[in-house]
Amino acid sequence: MVFKKALSALVFALPLVLGLPRPRAADLDPRCAFLLPIADNLLDELFDNECGDAAHGALRLIFHDAIGISPTVGGGGADGSIFTFNETELAFPANDGLDDVLDDLGPFFQKFSHVLTPGDFIQFAGALSLSTCPGAPRVQFALGRPPPKAASPPDLVPEPFDTATSILTRFASVGFSPQEVIALLSSHSIAGADTVDPTIPGTPFDSTPSVYDTNIFIDVLLKGFLFPGTGNNQGEVMSAINGTLRLQSDSELARDPRTACFWQEFATNHAAVQQQFGAAVFKLSLLGQNPRNMIDCSAVIPQPPALKNFVPSFPPGQSHADVEQSCAAAPFPNLPIQPGPPLDVPPIPQAEDDDDGGDDS
Ligand code: HEM
Repeated sequence: MVFKKALSALVFALPLVLGLPRPRAADLDPRCAFLLPIADNLLDELFDNECGDAAHGALRLIFHDAIGISPTVGGGGADGSIFTFNETELAFPANDGLDDVLDDLGPFFQKFSHVLTPGDFIQFAGALSLSTCPGAPRVQFALGRPPPKAASPPDLVPEPFDTATSILTRFASVGFSPQEVIALLSSHSIAGADTVDPTIPGTPFDSTPSVYDTNIFIDVLLKGFLFPGTGNNQGEVMSAINGTLRLQSDSELARDPRTACFWQEFATNHAAVQQQFGAAVFKLSLLGQNPRNMIDCSAVIPQPPALKNFVPSFPPGQSHADVEQSCAAAPFPNLPIQPGPPLDVPPIPQAEDDDDGGDDS
């Protein structure tokens, strides 16, 4: 398989980072062992072992690289073209904000580019990013994407102002069901926007952006009545919690008859969304790739911290009466109400611009 030649060189070139042991699966393929010190370096130096801005960006990047494929106009999918052909792909409006993400990841990619192709690096960093987020699933990672051949064609990444039909059609064209789309959107539980309202960078999509829980599915179904910043931005609708921004696409898919019951089910079923998200992210990471030519290196990905003391609930001051019932098959469950004053969610601290690739590994 690929990369064998470079493997032994890297194992000797990189000293192991000595830190807290990270719980990992025992069944490590020896051909994946060179990834262990790289994983530790990314977790320590790129993500600071936090489910923060850099981790969120790496997760968004796996999607924007992978979805660049279509049965009609081509593209290489999860091939790393967004790195190699960044001058083309960063000019696509749907990739707004990813320049900062490439700036964060770029030095690390350069550091390991002799052993990891751009496609493998992006999907590896994305899988690792999830292991910093309490409550996230441990996702699989397969190694062996060849270098990208060309930039993705334009207009393949969904925009937040696209209709639900357009979004579901785009995903269906590369094999994702409406249920899988909603599972993938649980990523917005650990996410925020820098460019939708550029006056308020780092505005989270739910009340708990550093924890993979189900609040996104509750918060987005509440009747919106505020804009956290200027309002009237393309792709934004009113949210229900101070300091959070609601994407029009999330709002529409939460209320669309084709997806509303999946959205509602996930609001109180962390285990289900965790399992389905993990499977869908792995499927995304294989778009355009041939899994038969790849090595299963999932054992390198650490187990994310468990979600502790999470009870699906309404934010303080809001109740079942504020839910916009959208699933026709079953009523939204009546949840407990969090005590205290109304929430005012702080912005997500932005990743430092001066990251140098963590040379102290
Ligand atoms: C319907 C499809 C989707 C649309 C329209 C959409 C749209 C957006 C938008 C507009 C942002 C904010 C960008 C900014 O202003 O900085 C965002 C952020 C994000 N999205 Fe999505 N997204 C979609 C699906 C996904 C999927 C499938 C994933 C991952 C599997 C994902 C992960 C993220 C993450 C992690 C962020 C936060 C990035 C950060 O904080 O730097 N999104 N998304």
